[in-house]
Amino acid sequence: MSDTATLSPQSIQAAAGLVSATAPLLRVKGLDIHYGESQVLRDVNLELRPGTITALMGRNGVGKTTLLKAIMGLLPARKGEVAFQGRSLNGLPPEKRARAGIAYVPQGREIFARLTIEENLLLGLEARPDRLKRIPEEEVFGLFPFLAGMLKRLGGNLSGGQQQQLAIARALLGKPKVLLLDEPTEGIQPSIIDDIEKVLLGLKAKGDIAVLLVEQYLDFARRLGDRYYIMERGTMVQGGKTSELTEESVKKHLAF
Ligand SMILES: Nc1ncnc2c1ncn2[C@@H]1O[C@H](COP(=O)(O)OP(=O)(O)OP(=O)(O)O)[C@@H](O)[C@H]1O
Ligand SMILES: [Mg+2]
Repeated sequence: MSDTATLSPQSIQAAAGLVSATAPLLRVKGLDIHYGESQVLRDVNLELRPGTITALMGRNGVGKTTLLKAIMGLLPARKGEVAFQGRSLNGLPPEKRARAGIAYVPQGREIFARLTIEENLLLGLEARPDRLKRIPEEEVFGLFPFLAGMLKRLGGNLSGGQQQQLAIARALLGKPKVLLLDEPTEGIQPSIIDDIEKVLLGLKAKGDIAVLLVEQYLDFARRLGDRYYIMERGTMVQGGKTSELTEESVKKHLAF
């Protein structure tokens, strides 16, 4: 698609997802978000489909984290809607959205440093439909083998990259349908980035989860993302297939 900031939300929408035959799992429509009187998101539209990874990109401060928080119900919308499986989530608190199948891994990971790894993981079970009370070890260790034998250690004893993996493991324990990941590679060593990449590709291959990946590491976003959206100053300015993201767009909207 052409490189212009004057595209209508509908055309960005179409380029970023609508061509696919499957129905969107999650749809954001005409969303406005304010912090006090300051408007941070303006008429934001987005669609996530099962079995795909959608990269959300844009420079610092454009509103990526704000959008994830709004999807999770952590910020109220002044206008617009977030719909999941065709139903509006408006007015639903974060814990109910989590139970409905939306998981959020915040920027900066936010695991509980003073809780054990086991206790951190148990929190992830709260959103789970089958009400499981014990950690399904095979499920967790299958994805993140390094956690085996470490359950009694404190979260704070893990390296930054391991904490990121713990945060992803915790989110996945809720058996989400939509996974919101905010800059999972930020400040993380390359070998762990590779491990996270494998986990995300495995999720994608299962075909039923939609991942929204906020990512400033362009190579990672390109390798993993099927679709992308680019934000600037609180609005979507571009979207499409990641394979068609041009160097011109990168320079214009993403380069520092
Ligand atoms: N709690 C808050 N109160 C007021 N303004 C805020 C608050 N949080 C964020 N902002 C502002 O909202 C805008 C969007 O912030 P946001 O954190 O969503 O951006 P971002 O794209 O995630 O940035 P980064 O790439 O640095 O993580 C910024 O101008 C920021 O300063
Ligand atoms: Mg952010």
